[in-house]
Amino acid sequence: MEITAEHLRKTFGATVAVHDVSFEIARGEVVGFLGPNGAGKSTTLRMLTGVFPPSSGRAIIAGRDVAREPLEARRALGYLPERAAAYGEMQVAGYLRFIAEMKGLGARELTGAVRAAMGATGIEHVSHRLIGNLSKGYRQRVGIAQALIGSPPVLILDEPTSGLDPEQVTEIRGLVQGLGSERTVILSTHILPEVESICSRVIIMNRGRILAVDSPAHLEEHLRPYREIAVEVAGPGDDVLRVLRGVPEVVEVVAIAGAPGAATGTWAVRSEHRHDVRRAVAAAVVGAGYGLVRLEHLAMTLEEIFLTLIGDEEAGAPSSRRTEQVGASH
Ligand SMILES: Nc1ncnc2c1ncn2[C@@H]1O[C@H](COP(=O)(O)OP(=O)(O)OP(=O)(O)O)[C@@H](O)[C@H]1O
Ligand SMILES: [Mg+2]
Repeated sequence: MEITAEHLRKTFGATVAVHDVSFEIARGEVVGFLGPNGAGKSTTLRMLTGVFPPSSGRAIIAGRDVAREPLEARRALGYLPERAAAYGEMQVAGYLRFIAEMKGLGARELTGAVRAAMGATGIEHVSHRLIGNLSKGYRQRVGIAQALIGSPPVLILDEPTSGLDPEQVTEIRGLVQGLGSERTVILSTHILPEVESICSRVIIMNRGRILAVDSPAHLEEHLRPYREIAVEVAGPGDDVLRVLRGVPEVVEVVAIAGAPGAATGTWAVRSEHRHDVRRAVAAAVVGAGYGLVRLEHLAMTLEEIFLTLIGDEEAGAPSSRRTEQVGASH
């Protein structure tokens, strides 16, 4: 295992920030950390990276115990903290050279490593600017560049896309995807599509505990008993409803938008997960002579996922959602 968290716990005075967190991540996995504010994501990542020791439990990075072999563990690691260190008086390139030296890179590799990290994050053109004068998004890019220096086998990125513009979000996503199967990545985020597209698994935390560990695709299947599509149809509501309900394998139809008498109405059409009813619904609507305006899969939002999981937890049934063994990779 490339990253192991064993019963990590962290208290700050009377606050238990992280209760008892264990997981294993295999080499080459990209794992997303999701959870509401204050869930304990950053605290967990700080224990993994050796920013502070756990109150109890153990973190192992690339075979090195973070508490016992801190230098070796840190050498295997690129870390983007949630709040990047300031270094406002340093120039971007100078700062990155300094980081490269700190990581023990020799003079010969150093220049190439700095250039590669700047290229990957699109900051070559600000290489001589003072970090303190950069915009928030550019400071974030410098933070990511700093983590990439020396191509460490393990990357731990605390909200890497926070503060970035949409184009850069896409680029960073592409960057993480392009790191290849030798690199192991943990990233925390509040953006669900981000983890859906790049993560093999997501770890969902709330109030210092892991609520669920699963692949993004399975998460929805386990959390919602049905598959749901949104269908917008031009036609008289009552008749459209009858047509939709008559489609084989459709178990429920609910109006979600459109006032009586409006030109179109939108319906949520539910089926079991194993039945994709989209083609049948489209054929039925068109066959009945109505206008099919829109038809799409209605994915669960991050809010719905949290609310479902947190609701379960409060009802006392969190363990049933731990659907996959942590560490079992694809
Ligand atoms: N140094 C500290 N001293 C005291 N309490 C702390 C400290 N660091 C974190 N906490 C508390 O621990 C809990 C978890 O915080 P943490 O920063 O890990 O959450 P998070 O999941 O990263 O949240 P966010 O999404 O807002 O970044 C919070 O209640 C926070 O106030
Ligand atoms: Mg955080």
